[in-house]
Amino acid sequence: MSSSSLYLLTFAFFLQTAFGADPLFHFCSDSGNFSTYDPYEPNLNKLTAYLSVQTPPSGFGMGSIGQEPNQAYGLALCRGDVSSQDCETCVVEAGTEIRKRCPYNKDAIIWYDNCLFKYSNQEFFGQIDNENMFYMWNLNNVSEPQAFNQKTKQLLTELANEAYANPKLYAAGETELYGSEKLYGLTQCTRDLSASDCKKCLDGIIGELPSCCDGKQGGRVVGGSCNFRYEIYPFLNSL
Ligand SMILES: *[C@@H]1O[C@H](CO)[C@@H](O)[C@H](O)[C@H]1NC(C)=O
Ligand SMILES: *[C@@H]1O[C@H](CO)[C@@H](O)[C@H](O)[C@H]1NC(C)=O
Repeated sequence: MSSSSLYLLTFAFFLQTAFGADPLFHFCSDSGNFSTYDPYEPNLNKLTAYLSVQTPPSGFGMGSIGQEPNQAYGLALCRGDVSSQDCETCVVEAGTEIRKRCPYNKDAIIWYDNCLFKYSNQEFFGQIDNENMFYMWNLNNVSEPQAFNQKTKQLLTELANEAYANPKLYAAGETELYGSEKLYGLTQCTRDLSASDCKKCLDGIIGELPSCCDGKQGGRVVGGSCNFRYEIYPFLNSL
């Protein structure tokens, strides 16, 4: 994947509240293409079908199909609070959509609110993906950015510590802001990572807070191996 693939996105408030049906973002890697009748394609098709069955029960699936040099590797991850049924809907949609958007790429990734789906012809399991990353933020500013930024970093750091100690590599929580307001957050890693690499990945993206979300009412740094989100309103199905 290209090292310049850091994209910055802004998004309007109304987009967040739409029903997660549209992809947040995707990357088609330029590391290699396959052609029609390439043996990679049936392997990728089987892998996609496999992940859409394997992922929903636990919210995470990974696997590979075929033999080198045509082996396809992939994983899918659903957000930690998403039901098996919504997970399945998302992974099936992601598997279809990414093939439309990157029809001949051997390597690609797509993210939705509810899931991510990634595949490659290179074995990538257990490695922190530092290349595929994007930011999203709420355009609205908070009134006291310094205090707010500190609260955000504190909450996400606590949630990172909780996530890497959890077998699901996921944590969600909330903290009091001033008055009756609250700050809500989540952190999550793909479960091919070790606990210590999950922590390393989350610490890395939390370090992006000043670039991503300085003084913003909501924000996300979304990578191929981990992501966080914070908002001043509840955004999870269960919290
Ligand atoms: C893959 O295909 C795209 C679009 O046709 C092209 O721009 C790119 O250079 C190709 N990459 C390789 C490695 O062949
Ligand atoms: C938020 O603050 C930035 C930088 O001060 C400013 O450019 C932007 O217009 C503000 N956004 C809103 C929605 O007020």
